[in-house]
Amino acid sequence: MEFKVRSYRFNPEIDDKPYYKEYIVQDFPGMTVLNALMKIKAETDGTLSFRRSCRSAICGSCAMKINGISKLACKTQVSSEIEKFGMIKSNPLFNMPVVRDLIVDQEIFFDKIKKIKPYLLGQRDNEEYHRFHVLREGEKIAQPVYHKSEFQNLTGNDDAPNCILCECCYSECGGVVGNKNYLGPAALAKLYRYSEDPRDNDKNGSRLVNGSQPEGIWDCIHCQACEEFCPKGISPVKAITKLHEKAIKNSITFSKGAKHIISIAKSIGETGRLDEVKVAADTGGIAGLINDLPMAFGAGLKGKIPPIRLKLIKDMDDIRLAYKELDLEEK
Ligand code: FES
Repeated sequence: MEFKVRSYRFNPEIDDKPYYKEYIVQDFPGMTVLNALMKIKAETDGTLSFRRSCRSAICGSCAMKINGISKLACKTQVSSEIEKFGMIKSNPLFNMPVVRDLIVDQEIFFDKIKKIKPYLLGQRDNEEYHRFHVLREGEKIAQPVYHKSEFQNLTGNDDAPNCILCECCYSECGGVVGNKNYLGPAALAKLYRYSEDPRDNDKNGSRLVNGSQPEGIWDCIHCQACEEFCPKGISPVKAITKLHEKAIKNSITFSKGAKHIISIAKSIGETGRLDEVKVAADTGGIAGLINDLPMAFGAGLKGKIPPIRLKLIKDMDDIRLAYKELDLEEK
């Protein structure tokens, strides 16, 4: 079967603006989108540029938009795309500048990964180190030993360590679309992965404190796109939610996001209702309230002024019970 590939093309050295070029490709059984692009490059147009390396969904190099969705080209079957869309449309990943054709500049992405300190922190000569390293007879260097149960979070229950840094989540992230400085799902999933690593010795929680700054864990907009489009089945948004819990449990609550959810939980725990004025004041302080005045004025004109004092809801006992079950009373 022959099929059409419509590829984004842009070479900033010679092109004034991007354009699309179409190619006709002859398929073969099991052909992937990467196979198709490599066939074009080898047989039709050697100038078509894209990244690839392992061809086994391991290195993350070949990520691109395929028919509008960020995917690994080496893992995407031509047949399933043709069945759904009738052709292959290839574009560079989103949220990063294009270097050429399907190649994006990854610097901004990897700068964000570096910001979360993606390595084990702390002194090696400490109790934690010796829990995981033993000096055997006749050996000069202590060897690592693995305590399965303590690594379970990394290898069993959680999938964050499986990230291959392909940038599909970053390309689809609505938070990055709204704020280019937001660290993004991959960096935050990595932050979670290291914060859970029992060998890490970040005793003062510096990684989580840094991650709680603006553009960090509290700037996730929960669009869930990172989970939906990760080719390795990872859920960065779940990792980010766990970081929220961890920050609050460790009293790292200086950020607006933490103040916001603490205030919401408190308001509902006290009255069963959401005291929007109090939540706005707790979250943004006086400056925040002044900022919100135009919106409050508009809401007032529509008759939506919240009551000064909220009445308890009828089933308040159920809320108290739920809070008790969830151990939220003290938070
Ligand atoms: S070429 Fe390595 S993930 Fe596709």
